[in-house]
Amino acid sequence: MHASLVFALYLATSAHAGSWEYLPSLADAAKKHGLLLGAMTNVNHLRSEHAYKTLEQEQFAITTAENSCKVGPIHPQPDVYNFKDCDTVFDTANAAGQKVRGHNLCWHSQNPPWLNSSLSHDKLVSALGSHIDTVVKHYGTKAYAWDVVNEAVSDGGSGVPTIKTEYPPWMPTVPDFIDRAFHFARQAGGPQVKLFYNDYGAVSMNPKADRMYELVKGLLQRKVPIDGVGFQFHINHNMSFLMPSIESNLKRFAALGLEVQITELDIRACDEWSTCDAAALQNQADMYADLLEICLGIPQCKVFEMWGFTDKYTWLDDFQNPTHKDEMPLPFDKDYAPKPAYHSMMQVLLNSSTAEV
Ligand code: G3I
Repeated sequence: MHASLVFALYLATSAHAGSWEYLPSLADAAKKHGLLLGAMTNVNHLRSEHAYKTLEQEQFAITTAENSCKVGPIHPQPDVYNFKDCDTVFDTANAAGQKVRGHNLCWHSQNPPWLNSSLSHDKLVSALGSHIDTVVKHYGTKAYAWDVVNEAVSDGGSGVPTIKTEYPPWMPTVPDFIDRAFHFARQAGGPQVKLFYNDYGAVSMNPKADRMYELVKGLLQRKVPIDGVGFQFHINHNMSFLMPSIESNLKRFAALGLEVQITELDIRACDEWSTCDAAALQNQADMYADLLEICLGIPQCKVFEMWGFTDKYTWLDDFQNPTHKDEMPLPFDKDYAPKPAYHSMMQVLLNSSTAEV
């Protein structure tokens, strides 16, 4: 659809802005910029909730399974693979014309009990190889990209090792597991499947981002096949001052010749000490818009994906939120109505000059 038509539709439907139905699509507006705009989905909600599935398919062009494609769920025993849930996410998305980011092939978390640190170096290398080979071949080019390695860079300030010294079961037993994982993935998937390193806490110019930069620079120097870096953006309402630093950081990775993707965006609108009032939701909307503008300004930023899309389902409810305060991190509310963040992103997409119209 032509951008002016999308804009006209947007204006015409903003009168019904309280409802998710008949809402112009963020993905359609993003397409004009050559950008894939997406959201993570959970297989259980996809299967059981018509509104969840419909809104997600209308609004987004790319998705990622929240848990179903991780090593634990997909490879429960050494010789047993269970593709059912991951297949559902891939097949549902592909049938709706969406792309899928595979997440993930190698992590320290959500591994099956058999894949543990008591295994020898050779058994671990063999397990890494056969897992990656089997999964990447199973999906082939249905996968737009894979997070080959997830969250391996050390946390904290400067003066710590680049890679986590404890990253079970891979570290400390297989110190070159990252190189090996990327080589296995390229061998299995060929050049069409994009291979990503994905991590959190590295969005701005901070010591962890510096380590991640050194890691990927080293991979490139050693000719390890990596196509891009995924930046998880699980961020807070009080981080808007970091936008210039975020932009510089993404640009330095892009300057290495890598694609940069925003892979897991959510923005807590408030916290323990503040309220998610109208001003907080507007601040959140401004942050979503600023990040989208940054991405649109970097030609190598090709994917802008959130970790979910409705405040009804967010990992923050169960995970890092002991008070169970509703932090409303996503662009649709619990009833699937668009929030200010939806509108601010749509305005950026409609107004930005990078549109290919
Ligand atoms: O499947 C079991 C179930 O059998 C059991 O009864 C239940 C009891 O707690 O747990 C279920 O497993 C949970 C799993 O999600 C599936 O629902 C785990 O406890 C829970 O820890 C796990 O959380 C996931 C988390 O990754 C694990 O680290 C979140 O849903 C998921 O959103 C989150 O996603 C991560 C990305 O993969 C990587 N980046 C950070 C992001 C947010 O933490």
